[in-house]
Amino acid sequence: MRDAGTGEASVSQAATRNLTEALIGTGLVAVVVIDRVSDAAPLAKTLVAAGLPLVEVTLRTPEALASLRAMADTPGAVVGAGTVLTPAQVAAAVAAGARYVVSPGLSAAVVRECAALGVPCVPGVATATEIQRALEHGLDVVKLFPADVCGGPAMIRALSAPFSDVRFVPTGGITAASLPDYLALPSVLAVGGSWMAPRSLVAEGDLAGVAELSRDAATLARAARAGVSR
Ligand code: 3PG
Repeated sequence: MRDAGTGEASVSQAATRNLTEALIGTGLVAVVVIDRVSDAAPLAKTLVAAGLPLVEVTLRTPEALASLRAMADTPGAVVGAGTVLTPAQVAAAVAAGARYVVSPGLSAAVVRECAALGVPCVPGVATATEIQRALEHGLDVVKLFPADVCGGPAMIRALSAPFSDVRFVPTGGITAASLPDYLALPSVLAVGGSWMAPRSLVAEGDLAGVAELSRDAATLARAARAGVSR
Protein backbone atom coordinates (compact mmCIF):
# COMPACT_ATOMS: atom_id res chain seq x y z
CA MET A 1 0.00 0.00 0.00
CA ARG A 2 1.66 3.18 -1.19
CA ASP A 3 0.90 6.81 -0.68
CA ALA A 4 -0.56 7.76 -4.05
CA GLY A 5 -0.18 11.46 -3.35
CA THR A 6 -3.90 11.90 -3.78
CA GLY A 7 -4.18 14.36 -0.93
CA GLU A 8 -5.71 11.69 1.25
CA ALA A 9 -4.05 11.17 4.60
CA SER A 10 -1.38 8.49 4.27
CA VAL A 11 -2.11 5.16 5.79
CA SER A 12 0.41 4.57 8.52
CA GLN A 13 3.29 2.73 6.89
CA ALA A 14 4.04 0.93 10.13
CA ALA A 15 0.48 -0.37 10.39
CA THR A 16 0.62 -1.57 6.81
CA ARG A 17 3.99 -3.24 7.32
CA ASN A 18 2.73 -4.96 10.47
CA LEU A 19 -0.34 -6.26 8.67
CA THR A 20 1.68 -7.50 5.72
CA GLU A 21 4.09 -9.31 8.04
CA ALA A 22 1.20 -10.88 9.96
CA LEU A 23 -0.40 -12.04 6.71
CA ILE A 24 2.83 -13.56 5.47
CA GLY A 25 3.54 -15.06 8.88
CA THR A 26 0.31 -17.00 9.14
CA GLY A 27 -0.89 -17.35 5.56
CA LEU A 28 -4.48 -17.54 6.72
CA VAL A 29 -7.18 -15.15 7.88
CA ALA A 30 -10.08 -16.68 9.78
CA VAL A 31 -13.23 -14.97 8.52
CA VAL A 32 -15.90 -15.20 11.20
CA VAL A 33 -19.59 -14.42 11.53
CA ILE A 34 -20.57 -14.08 15.19
CA ASP A 35 -24.15 -14.12 16.40
CA ARG A 36 -23.50 -13.85 20.17
CA VAL A 37 -20.92 -11.55 21.69
CA SER A 38 -20.32 -14.10 24.45
CA ASP A 39 -18.82 -16.41 21.81
CA ALA A 40 -16.28 -13.82 20.66
CA ALA A 41 -13.48 -13.91 23.23
CA PRO A 42 -13.46 -17.73 23.59
CA LEU A 43 -13.38 -18.02 19.81
CA ALA A 44 -10.46 -15.60 19.54
CA LYS A 45 -8.52 -17.52 22.19
CA THR A 46 -9.22 -20.77 20.36
CA LEU A 47 -8.02 -19.39 17.04
CA VAL A 48 -4.86 -17.86 18.51
CA ALA A 49 -4.03 -21.09 20.35
CA ALA A 50 -4.52 -23.04 17.13
CA GLY A 51 -2.04 -20.82 15.30
CA LEU A 52 -4.47 -18.48 13.55
CA PRO A 53 -4.06 -15.04 15.12
CA LEU A 54 -5.49 -13.15 12.14
CA VAL A 55 -9.25 -12.81 12.47
CA GLU A 56 -11.66 -10.88 10.27
CA VAL A 57 -14.95 -10.16 12.02
CA THR A 58 -17.61 -9.60 9.39
CA LEU A 59 -20.01 -6.77 10.13
CA ARG A 60 -23.02 -8.88 9.25
CA THR A 61 -24.70 -9.41 12.59
CA PRO A 62 -26.09 -7.07 15.24
CA GLU A 63 -23.38 -8.16 17.69
CA ALA A 64 -20.48 -7.93 15.25
CA LEU A 65 -18.96 -4.70 16.58
CA ALA A 66 -19.17 -5.77 20.22
CA SER A 67 -17.69 -9.10 19.20
CA LEU A 68 -14.86 -7.37 17.36
CA ARG A 69 -14.10 -5.36 20.50
CA ALA A 70 -14.03 -8.50 22.64
CA MET A 71 -11.76 -10.27 20.18
CA ALA A 72 -9.42 -7.29 19.80
CA ASP A 73 -8.77 -7.47 23.55
CA THR A 74 -7.57 -11.07 23.26
CA PRO A 75 -3.80 -11.34 23.64
CA GLY A 76 -2.12 -12.35 20.41
CA ALA A 77 -5.13 -11.76 18.20
CA VAL A 78 -4.79 -9.45 15.18
CA VAL A 79 -8.38 -8.50 14.53
CA GLY A 80 -9.82 -6.66 11.56
CA ALA A 81 -13.29 -5.85 10.32
CA GLY A 82 -14.80 -7.43 7.23
CA THR A 83 -17.83 -6.72 5.07
CA VAL A 84 -17.14 -3.01 5.59
CA LEU A 85 -19.32 -1.11 3.15
CA THR A 86 -19.45 2.49 4.43
CA PRO A 87 -17.20 5.14 6.00
CA ALA A 88 -19.37 5.04 9.12
CA GLN A 89 -18.64 1.34 9.48
CA VAL A 90 -14.91 2.05 9.11
CA ALA A 91 -15.06 4.53 11.97
CA ALA A 92 -17.11 2.22 14.17
CA ALA A 93 -14.83 -0.74 13.47
CA VAL A 94 -11.68 1.23 14.22
CA ALA A 95 -13.25 2.54 17.43
CA ALA A 96 -13.95 -1.08 18.37
CA GLY A 97 -10.29 -1.99 17.84
CA ALA A 98 -10.09 -3.13 14.23
CA ARG A 99 -6.48 -3.07 13.00
CA TYR A 100 -7.43 -3.45 9.34
CA VAL A 101 -10.50 -3.11 7.19
CA VAL A 102 -11.64 -5.53 4.50
CA SER A 103 -14.38 -4.84 1.94
CA PRO A 104 -16.03 -7.11 -0.59
CA GLY A 105 -15.45 -4.46 -3.25
CA LEU A 106 -13.63 -1.18 -3.76
CA SER A 107 -15.33 1.91 -2.34
CA ALA A 108 -13.48 5.22 -2.65
CA ALA A 109 -15.32 6.51 0.42
CA VAL A 110 -14.23 3.52 2.49
CA VAL A 111 -10.65 3.81 1.26
CA ARG A 112 -10.58 7.53 2.14
CA GLU A 113 -11.92 6.93 5.64
CA CYS A 114 -9.35 4.21 6.25
CA ALA A 115 -6.60 6.56 5.11
CA ALA A 116 -7.91 9.33 7.35
CA LEU A 117 -7.89 6.99 10.35
CA GLY A 118 -4.53 5.43 9.47
CA VAL A 119 -5.86 1.90 9.24
CA PRO A 120 -4.84 -0.46 6.41
CA CYS A 121 -7.58 -1.16 3.90
CA VAL A 122 -7.85 -4.34 1.83
CA PRO A 123 -10.48 -3.80 -0.88
CA GLY A 124 -12.11 -6.58 -2.81
CA VAL A 125 -11.33 -6.82 -6.52
CA ALA A 126 -12.50 -9.19 -9.21
CA THR A 127 -11.15 -7.58 -12.39
CA ALA A 128 -8.05 -5.91 -13.80
CA THR A 129 -9.92 -2.61 -13.88
CA GLU A 130 -10.62 -2.82 -10.16
CA ILE A 131 -6.95 -3.54 -9.47
CA GLN A 132 -6.03 -0.41 -11.42
CA ARG A 133 -8.49 1.56 -9.31
CA ALA A 134 -6.95 0.14 -6.14
CA LEU A 135 -3.49 1.15 -7.36
CA GLU A 136 -4.78 4.66 -8.06
CA HIS A 137 -5.74 4.80 -4.39
CA GLY A 138 -2.25 3.70 -3.39
CA LEU A 139 -3.38 0.21 -2.43
CA ASP A 140 -1.34 -2.74 -3.65
CA VAL A 141 -2.69 -5.41 -1.31
CA VAL A 142 -6.12 -6.53 -2.51
CA LYS A 143 -8.61 -9.26 -1.76
CA LEU A 144 -9.62 -11.30 -4.79
CA PHE A 145 -13.32 -11.88 -4.13
CA PRO A 146 -15.11 -14.19 -4.53
CA ALA A 147 -11.86 -15.98 -5.27
CA ASP A 148 -13.20 -19.39 -6.10
CA VAL A 149 -15.79 -18.31 -8.63
CA CYS A 150 -13.77 -15.53 -10.24
CA GLY A 151 -11.00 -17.79 -11.38
CA GLY A 152 -9.10 -19.04 -8.36
CA PRO A 153 -5.32 -19.50 -8.53
CA ALA A 154 -5.31 -19.35 -12.35
CA MET A 155 -6.91 -15.89 -12.21
CA ILE A 156 -4.28 -14.66 -9.75
CA ARG A 157 -1.48 -16.06 -11.89
CA ALA A 158 -2.90 -14.25 -14.92
CA LEU A 159 -3.38 -10.95 -13.07
CA SER A 160 0.11 -11.11 -11.62
CA ALA A 161 1.64 -10.80 -15.08
CA PRO A 162 0.62 -7.15 -15.63
CA PHE A 163 0.36 -6.36 -11.90
CA SER A 164 3.63 -7.81 -10.67
CA ASP A 165 3.72 -5.62 -7.54
CA VAL A 166 0.20 -6.42 -6.40
CA ARG A 167 -0.25 -8.84 -3.51
CA PHE A 168 -3.45 -10.82 -3.03
CA VAL A 169 -5.50 -12.09 -0.11
CA PRO A 170 -7.97 -14.31 -1.98
CA THR A 171 -11.17 -15.02 -0.10
CA GLY A 172 -14.51 -16.60 -0.89
CA GLY A 173 -15.14 -20.29 -1.48
CA ILE A 174 -11.64 -21.40 -0.47
CA THR A 175 -11.36 -24.71 1.36
CA ALA A 176 -8.67 -26.83 2.93
CA ALA A 177 -8.48 -28.66 -0.40
CA SER A 178 -7.85 -25.53 -2.48
CA LEU A 179 -5.68 -23.65 0.05
CA PRO A 180 -2.33 -25.14 -1.07
CA ASP A 181 -2.79 -24.02 -4.69
CA TYR A 182 -3.34 -20.43 -3.57
CA LEU A 183 -0.47 -20.34 -1.09
CA ALA A 184 1.92 -21.77 -3.67
CA LEU A 185 1.66 -18.46 -5.55
CA PRO A 186 4.31 -15.88 -4.54
CA SER A 187 1.82 -13.04 -5.04
CA VAL A 188 -0.56 -14.45 -2.42
CA LEU A 189 0.21 -13.04 1.02
CA ALA A 190 -2.48 -15.06 2.72
CA VAL A 191 -5.84 -16.69 2.12
CA GLY A 192 -9.08 -15.80 3.87
CA GLY A 193 -11.76 -18.31 4.69
CA SER A 194 -14.45 -19.37 7.09
CA TRP A 195 -14.08 -23.14 6.91
CA MET A 196 -11.92 -23.31 10.04
CA ALA A 197 -14.49 -21.47 12.17
CA PRO A 198 -17.88 -22.16 10.60
CA ARG A 199 -20.73 -20.02 11.86
CA SER A 200 -22.69 -23.15 12.78
CA LEU A 201 -19.94 -24.58 15.00
CA VAL A 202 -19.46 -21.22 16.70
CA ALA A 203 -23.20 -20.94 17.31
CA GLU A 204 -23.26 -24.46 18.79
CA GLY A 205 -20.36 -23.55 21.08
CA ASP A 206 -18.26 -26.33 19.55
CA LEU A 207 -14.89 -24.73 20.12
CA ALA A 208 -13.17 -28.11 20.16
CA GLY A 209 -14.37 -28.57 16.61
CA VAL A 210 -13.14 -25.10 15.65
CA ALA A 211 -9.78 -25.82 17.31
CA GLU A 212 -9.32 -29.02 15.34
CA LEU A 213 -10.22 -27.42 12.00
CA SER A 214 -8.02 -24.43 12.79
CA ARG A 215 -4.99 -26.47 13.79
CA ASP A 216 -5.33 -28.51 10.61
CA ALA A 217 -5.65 -25.34 8.52
CA ALA A 218 -2.62 -23.71 10.17
CA THR A 219 -0.53 -26.84 9.59
CA LEU A 220 -1.65 -27.02 5.98
CA ALA A 221 -0.81 -23.36 5.43
CA ARG A 222 2.67 -23.74 6.89
CA ALA A 223 3.35 -26.74 4.67
CA ALA A 224 1.91 -25.09 1.56
CA ARG A 225 4.01 -21.99 1.81
CA ALA A 226 7.29 -23.63 2.76
CA GLY A 227 9.88 -22.60 0.23
CA VAL A 228 7.70 -19.96 -1.47
CA SER A 229 9.22 -16.49 -1.06
CA ARG A 230 6.97 -13.42 -1.00
C1 3PG B 1 -17.15 -14.20 3.15
O1 3PG B 1 -17.63 -13.47 2.32
O2 3PG B 1 -17.80 -14.65 4.09
C2 3PG B 1 -15.71 -14.49 3.08
O3 3PG B 1 -15.23 -14.17 1.83
C3 3PG B 1 -15.44 -15.92 3.39
O4 3PG B 1 -15.95 -16.69 2.40
P1 3PG B 1 -16.09 -18.26 2.66
O5 3PG B 1 -17.17 -18.44 3.69
O6 3PG B 1 -16.50 -18.80 1.31
O7 3PG B 1 -14.77 -18.78 3.13
